[in-house]
Amino acid sequence: MSAVDTHAVETKVKDMYERVAQDPHGEFHFEMGRALAERLGYSPYDLDRVPAPSMDSFAGVGHHFDLAALQSGERVLDLGSGSGLDSFVASLKVGATGTVVGIDMTVAQLDKANELRQQGGFLNVEYVHGYIDQLPFEDESFDAVISNGVINLVADKDNTFKQAARVLKRGGRLALSDIVTGVQLPQGIVCDATLWAACIGGAMHRDSYQQAIVDAGLTIEVVQPNPQYRFISDQANGATTKYEVQSISLVAVKP
Ligand SMILES: C[S@@+](CC[C@H](N)C(=O)[O-])C[C@H]1O[C@@H](n2cnc3c(N)ncnc32)[C@H](O)[C@@H]1O
Repeated sequence: MSAVDTHAVETKVKDMYERVAQDPHGEFHFEMGRALAERLGYSPYDLDRVPAPSMDSFAGVGHHFDLAALQSGERVLDLGSGSGLDSFVASLKVGATGTVVGIDMTVAQLDKANELRQQGGFLNVEYVHGYIDQLPFEDESFDAVISNGVINLVADKDNTFKQAARVLKRGGRLALSDIVTGVQLPQGIVCDATLWAACIGGAMHRDSYQQAIVDAGLTIEVVQPNPQYRFISDQANGATTKYEVQSISLVAVKP
């Protein structure tokens, strides 16, 4: 979809999310932390049971655990697991007989999540270093794939959805929250690697985004907007108003 320099985007995204892991109280275009998580819909009951530093670095854009409806014993994959909040919440939902695998390309995020996993005794969670458009997992090996605020950062969204569909079992769910637009972004924004890293430049038009999920072989069941999510810098807010940049959550099923 873009003429952006994908190498520059990857470098900027890794730099940005290394800072998110190591300095979550620094200055960012987007909000992070427990107050954000609660506003998006995470239950205080769950948040009281996950490591607080994973909430400090939480950079998600919505809440989709109600859509994912994770069951005890299920195997869950978290695409772009960051500092681990969603994988820890998923761990609570699937219980000791379930497993959660988080995959992320940013080493500082993985290191933080792994340390918190060990300290918190989340024995059913593991983290893998890798890219979500080239998943290193067997076909049909997960009951659910979740992802929060990540796929907008990936240049090859079509392949990311195909990979998610490939690793899902039949009847499995893809439940995610992400940033999309209502107006096609102009090249000036699409080519700005810094705006990609801030979750804006890579945002796809919502219709194309949903079509890419359908083209991957999944059936979309629910799409809902997350008006509680907002960017915080003036630059980001200018783009969000003009191009209808918005957060959505959705669930799609593999027939
Ligand atoms: C906005 S953060 C969200 C992290 C986490 N889901 C959360 O809610 O806090 C995006 C994460 O996606 C990761 N990421 C971005 N592109 C990726 C890719 N192509 N493959 C793997 N991870 C990626 C980044 O390293 C970062 O940790």
